[in-house]
Amino acid sequence: MTTNGNAAGDGTRARFVWPSNCLQTLLAIEHPIIQAPMGGATSPELTAAVSNEGGFGMVAGISCSPSRVSELIRRTKQLTKKPFGVNLVFKDDVDSQLDATLEEGVAAVSFFWGDPVNQIKRVHAAGSKAMLTVSSVEEAKKAADIGVDVIVAQGVEAGGHVPGSVSTMVLIPAITSELSGIPVIAAGGLSNGASIVAALALGASGVWMGTRFLGASEASIHSVYRRHLIAADETSTVYSQLFNKGWECPHRTLRNSTTEAWERAGRPGAGSRPGETDAVATRPDGTRIERYTSATPNVALDGEIEALSMWAGQGVYSVRETEPASRIFQRLVAESQARLRDLTLG
Ligand SMILES: Cc1cc2nc3c(=O)[nH]c(=O)nc-3n(C[C@H](O)[C@H](O)[C@H](O)COP(=O)(O)O)c2cc1C
Repeated sequence: MTTNGNAAGDGTRARFVWPSNCLQTLLAIEHPIIQAPMGGATSPELTAAVSNEGGFGMVAGISCSPSRVSELIRRTKQLTKKPFGVNLVFKDDVDSQLDATLEEGVAAVSFFWGDPVNQIKRVHAAGSKAMLTVSSVEEAKKAADIGVDVIVAQGVEAGGHVPGSVSTMVLIPAITSELSGIPVIAAGGLSNGASIVAALALGASGVWMGTRFLGASEASIHSVYRRHLIAADETSTVYSQLFNKGWECPHRTLRNSTTEAWERAGRPGAGSRPGETDAVATRPDGTRIERYTSATPNVALDGEIEALSMWAGQGVYSVRETEPASRIFQRLVAESQARLRDLTLG
């Protein structure tokens, strides 16, 4: 680690430099902090704010038409000249979303929930970097073999859809002890400077933080969801497969009236759960959202918001208020720097 210290003791503030690693060079960023893509919850304003602070913002392309992906990228580019990325999920027609993404041009494309073997060459030919979210050493090795530039290792503490069952604490050193020469980014449960520094100590080259940025005023989430996030602590989340309509994948959400009624009923299987076909909310076009649907409670929804899949990671205890993403980001950097200095000087 290097610090541009104040050896002269001239009273000026020492400028801190992160432990050097290849991630910052690869993505042309100052701080190894990435705002995780969050379908339905991120916005061009959030992505741009993080990139403007010297981190790396991500656009969430999930469920978006190719023209909507283009629109999100263009809007983000109006708000920042700094690099940012786009995330695509293999639930969708990724190839047409990728066409739109590469036509607009972004620094990196990240993939989730599938194998991007047929997409990586195109990403590279367009001059972008490819990222893939994994949850085991085996998946990480495959990612490296197919030419992924950055591995995102997601631990089970993470909010949203979480296919793996290994904790971030175990997953990062397990992967970095097997793979060298490729940056591994830690995701899941990381929500403050202490956890960022811990992830770096485990061998990660950077962090990928979702839940912490749900507290940003730029996150496009419903005020009821926001209120529940702020009230939550580290024990408030449930890891289940409950909200499986539309996407069958394990996930982590806030405990709510839907999870509690299901637990009280003895955790019955899909089809026999309480209120299985209740319409708990509606979309702007009037379509119904049934209980147990995988749907981010965003600003556009109306109804019993609390009963929906309120995605959140265990690091939700750090979300204490709504504040601009720039302030969250600056706090994360300051906390990390203080923690690293304590460790270095202690
Ligand atoms: C509201 C929400 C939506 C998410 N949507 C996506 C998504 O569209 N694509 C994706 O790759 N990951 C998605 N994730 C997972 C995040 O990218 C990331 O892995 C996770 O938030 C990291 O854990 P943390 O929430 O504890 O920081 C989502 C997470 C949340 C909380």
